[in-house]
Amino acid sequence: MEGRVKNIALIGFMGSGKSAVGKRLARKLGYDFVDTDKEIERKNGRLIRQIWKEKGEEYFRQIESTVIKEVTMAKNKVIACGGGAVLDPVNIQFIKESCLVVYLKATSNQLYQRLKYATDRPLLNVPDAQKEIRRLLGAREKAYHEVSDLIVDTSGLTVDGVVDQIMSRIKQNGEFPEGR
Ligand code: S3P
Repeated sequence: MEGRVKNIALIGFMGSGKSAVGKRLARKLGYDFVDTDKEIERKNGRLIRQIWKEKGEEYFRQIESTVIKEVTMAKNKVIACGGGAVLDPVNIQFIKESCLVVYLKATSNQLYQRLKYATDRPLLNVPDAQKEIRRLLGAREKAYHEVSDLIVDTSGLTVDGVVDQIMSRIKQNGEFPEGR
């Protein structure tokens, strides 16, 4: 996207801080915050892990795509996208059309440290979650890079540190959104 942006989409692996960063960034910009996972749960009246268990990943991905389409139609939103959302070309198209896309990058070790006690990520409900994080990140990293307009290396940064990086980079690029 060129010039002023309608929305900001945060992408990256599970545990990369999209929700925490997104909430604070939205507050700073006077934007609404929306988390695609929470929207999916709200629409279905069920937690992600229940949807996954009862109806499977394919069904989950279909609702995820519907949600991505809906939320990217709006403006003045900071959108935290589920970690797998940018693997679908149609989702990518909707996201790229209306959002400045920021990739929150972290290493597989950092992600494992943040996710090792999480019970709400069905993809990591496997005997060796650390290995699975490495495998999935390896398979997705190229897509995260290609889809993003900005990459923020979150290593050693606090949530506020990441928000500051995003703010200064969007200002620098002349893409500072108008807010309300
Ligand atoms: C997924 C990431 C999760 C959630 C679902 C699948 C993925 O979102 O959408 O468990 O495929 O990486 P977060 O990235 O917000 O944890």
